[in-house]
Amino acid sequence: MLSANEIEQVYWLADSLGEPGQRIDDGLFLARVAMHARELPRNLRRFLADFRASNRSPACLVLGYPVDEVRMGPSPTACNRLREKTIDEIRLEIAAILISSCLGDVFGWRLQHEGSIIHDLAPRPEHEDVGLGTGSRQHINWHTEDSFHPYRADYVGLFCVRNSHRVATTIGALDPDQLSKRHRRLLSAPLFTFRPDPSYLMSKAHPLPGTDRGGILFGDPENLCLRFDQDYIDWPDDIDGIAEAVETLRRVIEASLIHMPLRSGDFLLLNNRRAVHGRPAFTPTYRGTDRWLKRINITRNLERSRRRRQSDFDRVIYV
Ligand SMILES: [Fe+2]
Repeated sequence: MLSANEIEQVYWLADSLGEPGQRIDDGLFLARVAMHARELPRNLRRFLADFRASNRSPACLVLGYPVDEVRMGPSPTACNRLREKTIDEIRLEIAAILISSCLGDVFGWRLQHEGSIIHDLAPRPEHEDVGLGTGSRQHINWHTEDSFHPYRADYVGLFCVRNSHRVATTIGALDPDQLSKRHRRLLSAPLFTFRPDPSYLMSKAHPLPGTDRGGILFGDPENLCLRFDQDYIDWPDDIDGIAEAVETLRRVIEASLIHMPLRSGDFLLLNNRRAVHGRPAFTPTYRGTDRWLKRINITRNLERSRRRRQSDFDRVIYV
């Protein structure tokens, strides 16, 4: 929880970097904001540095950023990268980038939210029955964000603008010690095909991303990481025990789930290699007061995706 003093520091730092009409997607601007992240309050930077260094916690929460819901304007019901934003919204987005920059570099996807760095997750009528962040009546099963993509985020930030109907965000994590050695071995084998979710396939742009192959579990055997999306994964059915291993993993994660209704000003940072997330179905109103989260992707190593971005400064992954 940020103290009153710290809130003031974050607020005024963000304010000093933004101006009316500021486009936050520009690579040079993002680099400049990241440089100013060192001016954030020391306790906040230390908290985020510990979260990043330990690499074991599934998530952390930064609480207390002041959001004036009236001045933020209505929850957007359409994707419009160039829509006019209020200065409060620009300031909030800069605050989100400043805080995110303590964990890594922010980036976007060409095929998601028109290549925006910050995604507005608020219900849209045309997505009402689709399992998307911009949907509503369709439950979203818990998942690793962009599990199919080799350059997926290491952290996913969800900054809550408003959530007056208290729609929960589902969060879970895997304790690998609850899996047998045999299951860990099977789940670490490169036998799984990860498929893109509908948010990519709905785009009319080309090329579309393909599938990726690998293990559900990966990394240091003493500190295994996870990627899993139960709706967009396949495995061969002729390998003894594999379906049982996946089902056990699913049950272990299911038992860990918590359901957290974020409040206005809460900034949830998920470790996308540890945590899974989702949300239940809810009823939209489209009256400008629906749940509105701002999602931001963060990588620990932007350089890795260089060949899929147009320049060193470009933060948008092409495919
Ligand atoms: Fe997600």
